[in-house]
Amino acid sequence: MGKRLFRRKFLGHILEELDIEQHKLDRSLNAFDLTILGVGAIIGVGIFVLTGAASAKYAGPGVILSFVIAGAACAFAGLCYAELASSIPVAGSAYNYAYATMGELIAWIIGWDLILEYIVAAIAVSIGWSGYFVHILAALGIQVPVWCSAAPGTVEGAIINLPAMVIVLLLTVILVVGIKESARFTSLMVLVKMVTIMVFILVGASHVNPDNWHPFLPFGLKGVVAGAAIVFFAYIGFDAISTTAEETRNPQRNMPIGILLSLAICSLLYIVVAAILTGMVPYTELNTPAPVAHALTLAGFRWGSALVSAGAVAGITSVLMVMLMGQPRIFFAMSRDGLLWPWVSKVHPRFRTPYVSQILTGGVVAGFAGFIDIGTAAELCNIGTLFAFAMVCGGVVVLRRTHPELRRSFRCPMVPLIPLLGVFSCVWLMLSLPKITWIRFVCWLLAGLTIYFYYGIKHSRMAGGQAETDRRG
Ligand code: ALA
Repeated sequence: MGKRLFRRKFLGHILEELDIEQHKLDRSLNAFDLTILGVGAIIGVGIFVLTGAASAKYAGPGVILSFVIAGAACAFAGLCYAELASSIPVAGSAYNYAYATMGELIAWIIGWDLILEYIVAAIAVSIGWSGYFVHILAALGIQVPVWCSAAPGTVEGAIINLPAMVIVLLLTVILVVGIKESARFTSLMVLVKMVTIMVFILVGASHVNPDNWHPFLPFGLKGVVAGAAIVFFAYIGFDAISTTAEETRNPQRNMPIGILLSLAICSLLYIVVAAILTGMVPYTELNTPAPVAHALTLAGFRWGSALVSAGAVAGITSVLMVMLMGQPRIFFAMSRDGLLWPWVSKVHPRFRTPYVSQILTGGVVAGFAGFIDIGTAAELCNIGTLFAFAMVCGGVVVLRRTHPELRRSFRCPMVPLIPLLGVFSCVWLMLSLPKITWIRFVCWLLAGLTIYFYYGIKHSRMAGGQAETDRRG
């Protein structure tokens, strides 16, 4: 059994699975859909909410560099993701890549870790959404009572964050109905979001006061790296593209285009927005729930502030949509491999979506979103994601050695340098996160290992495959 834990899943077996009728998903996404999906997943709470806190508390105007560092780590990981996604076009993201390269146990750890990433990211994003939504309603003269608009402990009198819960449940219904509809919905949201950011850039650029960039590094280089470990959240999401590989036409070509293009577009926008934001107002004033809108208000653009708030709500909605969509596909892949219960991978006969895991995800996310705070969720999400990214980078090096013959329509340049830089930068950022986040992360992994040794190890397809081989002698 010990040997089996480290045995790799046969690649041919993975590719064969694409044809398993019972679990087949509908292939309807192209490169453009994927790029839109990527931008939809990436730009959200990170730039609209967390930039302010990262700048005020950790990096000052140096948050611009924080974005460069976090963006570089993601670019390394993105190149590795693109190579793996173009070689192994099945659902499940880093999980399936790990299965092919590093064996069942590591695959389980990564899959379990990705569940953390998507669920916790969705929780953080829905809480950010709720904040902006309540803010807009207040601007329209509608006051949502505190008791039902924030998690207990965050504001006095708060009991439950109902708007966060409601948006999650609403999007879950849309996702159950079908992926193509969801992608169309996301396209519209992405358009609104891009216009919003452009408005901010155009209006804000004329109000930059270079004095605000001095001192540029008030907290030193350490602060810049700590800021990078926070704003890393702003980049999370491009990997969600790879979870839809089974729903993509010609994934070998379209996957890398979608991943790299969406990452490049977002990196550029973030660096420009961070520069303008910290140039418009002193960084000390940016620790607010809506820093981008706040900067415009301070500059005297009330209409711009309102517009940005509305755009932020739309933008954050599209992020939430992709996070909620990515999660069930991890469940789906793990269940299909027998590592989770079979009912998890049931596909809806009419909508062709993994509806059981979708509903389960929506329920869990909504449940937590009502009761925890955004900072805790974002940090936990970052540590899990950085860990998964580091494993993916390592996986590229392993797969090049174990399967040099595999057709890779996209090859990561400078292997092993780029993957190693990816591992190094992810671990570096992980080490900048607080101890409590590490403790929570380790607890999550231990819980996962318990489930694996209690259920997965006995029921996985590989266990079945092994028994079959033994029987035949
Ligand atoms: N990158 C996503 C966001 O910033 C998770 O909301």
